Amino acid sequence: MNLTLKIWRQKGPQDKGAMVEYKVNDISEHMSFLEMMDVLNEQLINSGDEPVAFDHDCREGICGMCSLYINGEAHGPDRGITTCQLHMRMFNDGDTIYIEPWRAAAFPVIKDLVVDRMAFERIQQAGGYISVNTSGNTQDANALPISKHAADEAMDAASCIGCGACVATCKNSSAMLFVGAKVAQYALLPQGKVEAADRVTNMVHQMDLEGFGNCTNTGACEIECPKGITLVNIARMNREFLKASLKG
Ligand code: SF4
Ligand code: FES
Repeated sequence: MNLTLKIWRQKGPQDKGAMVEYKVNDISEHMSFLEMMDVLNEQLINSGDEPVAFDHDCREGICGMCSLYINGEAHGPDRGITTCQLHMRMFNDGDTIYIEPWRAAAFPVIKDLVVDRMAFERIQQAGGYISVNTSGNTQDANALPISKHAADEAMDAASCIGCGACVATCKNSSAMLFVGAKVAQYALLPQGKVEAADRVTNMVHQMDLEGFGNCTNTGACEIECPKGITLVNIARMNREFLKASLKG
């Protein structure tokens, strides 16, 4: 396939940035999207130009690093996958592909297609954990029976990889699907109930401080989430927040 790429280039956080056009030829349909980007970067390096900066790590849908907005969709045109799992067979010879970073005030661009997602880390640090004594006196896991239903739902929520596609997709740049998943994964388990009120209060507070927008139930986040995190998690977070507020 021969393709035209229109890619967001931005030298640094203060740079204005602009779309720049590139051509790549002989791209195999079996390549992943990031391999196609590697081909472009090799081309740029060989011609003495600066390669395009983009985030990636595992390249197998686990780490949540690959954050590209492709033809107006977070993680591109396929469903239930991350950018690194997107294959070039989803495109046609002669296509023009627009590639941009996540766009959200809380995710400022660092360079080209790389954005700063530390806001998610700070939300996690505010309460996305359980305090456990790991000094050797840890309780046997089987001592706390958990229903299959609760375990399955907690596991589904825990599959969020923190990629940020939900924020990038939402017209309000809301982080509620991410925060909902992180709250729900503990709220469903006995180990998480001990600190439940503080957790939801602190995580929601941090989310607001970071400048994410509010949820208006458009549901775009659920559609673009590569891990199938559902809006049910936002509803659960809202219930947890209300309970915590009433508790004072
Ligand atoms: S909820 Fe989905 S889209 Fe949002 S960060 Fe988690 S995995 Fe990514
Ligand atoms: S590079 Fe890890 S999820 Fe894509």
